[in-house]
Amino acid sequence: MMARSLRVALEYIEKVKSARQRNGYPSLQKFSEDIQPSLSTVKNFFAGIAIDYEYFREICEKLGLEWQDIAYKEPETQPNKPQPTNGEASPFITGAPITQPRYFFGREKELKRLFNLLKRHPLQNAAIIGKKRSGKTSLLHYLKNITTTSAEQLRPEQKFDWLPHPENYCWIFVDLQDARMQSREGLLKYILESLKMQVPTPCDLDHFMNVVSDNLHSPTVILLDKISVGLQRCPELDDGFWESLRSLATNHTAGNLAFVLATPESPIEMAHNTGHSSPFFNIFGYTAYLEALAETEARELIASSPIAFTDEDVEWILTESRCWPLLLQILCGERLFNLEEGENNDNWREEGLRQMKSFTHLLDS
Ligand SMILES: Nc1ncnc2c1ncn2[C@@H]1O[C@H](COP(=O)(O)OP(=O)(O)OP(=O)(O)O)[C@@H](O)[C@H]1O
Ligand SMILES: [Mg+2]
Repeated sequence: MMARSLRVALEYIEKVKSARQRNGYPSLQKFSEDIQPSLSTVKNFFAGIAIDYEYFREICEKLGLEWQDIAYKEPETQPNKPQPTNGEASPFITGAPITQPRYFFGREKELKRLFNLLKRHPLQNAAIIGKKRSGKTSLLHYLKNITTTSAEQLRPEQKFDWLPHPENYCWIFVDLQDARMQSREGLLKYILESLKMQVPTPCDLDHFMNVVSDNLHSPTVILLDKISVGLQRCPELDDGFWESLRSLATNHTAGNLAFVLATPESPIEMAHNTGHSSPFFNIFGYTAYLEALAETEARELIASSPIAFTDEDVEWILTESRCWPLLLQILCGERLFNLEEGENNDNWREEGLRQMKSFTHLLDS
């Protein structure tokens, strides 16, 4: 759906001002005389305040600029978007990472440790290590979203007050599998835009370091997912690049910047295996190893089914999944589907085990 109002992204304010000058409009008054939007709308536009979408386009056209190039783009994930509550939402999610906190279960121990590192100065770095499909990305999303999600979008017993002032925090989710993050400039630009800081031209490492050191004054956590992809595939993200990020966190941001990275192996091993030796990979003092959920956590996940399972089914699911969240989700999904179809047999078990097959590496010790 088209946005009803748009604003100029802060980093393009100067660009729109110089376009106005170039087009021979030294004053806003003069500019507004030649177009439909009122002077106050024009003032808002040049101040980066949202205005009606049609006016936004008209002003851009007058300035000879593509409106898509300068409009502020909403971050992709919208954690606070209300979820359907009328049964449309799927209670069991298999495959995609969990992004809505209400569908995330367990990991209490890891969350306690991670938030403990992030709630005080200096913020400290952490690594989340886990096998493929163990729940790394879901945990990164949860960290980012849980403290700012409103209570009505959570399950009743879910803890959200992990930080004393969650509103002061800036969370940046970097997925290094995303092609846009695989060049230096793309990644640095994305971080600056997420921080709502001006993007310098050129957006190279030196300028980036200057902008961030001068302007970063509140707690900021950069979540790095699929970092091994970045190390393997992106020659621009070399040792020099990672070293600069380390020095930014340790020397230039007064303890306000931390990294949390997710990886299948330890950061030092991963760097070593991909031919990197930057000291960036030594700064992860705390490591969370993702294992299966605790049994009580697994029971909670199972109990979230809109149709209750029998005790016998619950025990079977716990035994077969050995409490791995993905396997729990698969088996619960199959059980629920079978109940919703009104079938009163055990065929779902066979199907569940078949679905689990691709992920049985989780069960290897
Ligand atoms: N805490 C959780 N609560 C409920 N379900 C979870 C949780 N963590 C993981 N899952 C389940 O496991 C699946 C895989 O999770 P996720 O994508 O986060 O794993 P991953 O370790 O990032 O995987 P990959 O190694 O492929 O990147 C999710 O689709 C979901 O079904
Ligand atoms: Mg992942």
